[in-house]
Amino acid sequence: MSNFLVTGGAGFIGSALVRGLLAKGASRVAVVDSLLTGYERNLDEVCGAIDFHRVDIRDYDALRKTMAGIDVVFHEAAIPSVPRSIAEPVPSHDVNINGTFNLLRAAKDAGVRRVIYAASSSAYGDTPVLPKVETMATAPKSPYAAQKLMGEYYMSVWASCFGLETVSLRYFNVFGPRQDPTSQYSGVLSLFISAILDRRTPTIFGDGETSRDFTYVEDVVGLNLRAAEAPASVSGKVFNAGNGGRITLNQAWDLLQKFEGVAIPPIYGPPRPGDVRDSQADTTAAVRELGHSPQVSFEAGLRATLDWYRSTRNRA
Ligand code: UD1
Repeated sequence: MSNFLVTGGAGFIGSALVRGLLAKGASRVAVVDSLLTGYERNLDEVCGAIDFHRVDIRDYDALRKTMAGIDVVFHEAAIPSVPRSIAEPVPSHDVNINGTFNLLRAAKDAGVRRVIYAASSSAYGDTPVLPKVETMATAPKSPYAAQKLMGEYYMSVWASCFGLETVSLRYFNVFGPRQDPTSQYSGVLSLFISAILDRRTPTIFGDGETSRDFTYVEDVVGLNLRAAEAPASVSGKVFNAGNGGRITLNQAWDLLQKFEGVAIPPIYGPPRPGDVRDSQADTTAAVRELGHSPQVSFEAGLRATLDWYRSTRNRA
């Protein structure tokens, strides 16, 4: 097997990818993380089996050094929030665009074969048709969505101009164990799960009928691993990384109340600026060209995630 590098490897998705690579027998897995939003504890179980580099992707020289001998890079490092990109557009731009540019330069200069990029379904914006297919026009509604789309363009240009193989995977609301619930910018399901375990009232922005294609983290890992192995004909392309379903915020909160056997009506607030109303992936191209179909239903993933949060609390 090849030598791998995961940027953002101490984060929620990146650390799951690191564990997935090791489970598949990867001979070498290196991790780059600035620990801005990631945590070394996410890698506790595997720290003896990886090379950890505390490096910010905006630092070209340091990043370039971590890529010696690397075949495939998974680029997960980002400041990953729509509202944060509106509240703090400068760092968001700097990490998500300038950092991604550095990453591509360093990968090319180091002789990396392929870069797999964590793109975002937010690039679609409010398209009138669901599910969202890769051939649809994009319409970003927030700085974050625009930054992630710029990253896709850079990926395909590095493939066509510089011969670096690239694949962009548009993530659809990834959730699962280790998602950090402690920030106002955290993913909604991590906030809902913390609230239900504390028996607290959650806030739903909007009327609760906003919908998302919540995708279990292990399915995103599976798709990334396939993208690393896929033939060179996938290079330069963009694929949806979603489950294919569509769940409203009201449905998600209802299910958590059912699991826990409690009744806690949510508070409704104004919709968040930059939010997309509905999101759902067409998974056809990813299944056909990358060969991974989603394995974990929303309900099974939510139950597993709830159990994980409960067990980590019991240990603390
Ligand atoms: C998420 C990801 C983003 C990814 C995108 C892909 C996070 C933090 N963001 O964005 O990186 O590229 O999916 O599809 O994982 N909400 C509430 N109450 C809360 C928090 C949020 O109602 O306490 C609502 C939001 O207003 C939004 C929905 O839940 O309507 C989802 O929000 P969020 O989890 O932040 O994800 P996205 O913005 O969809």
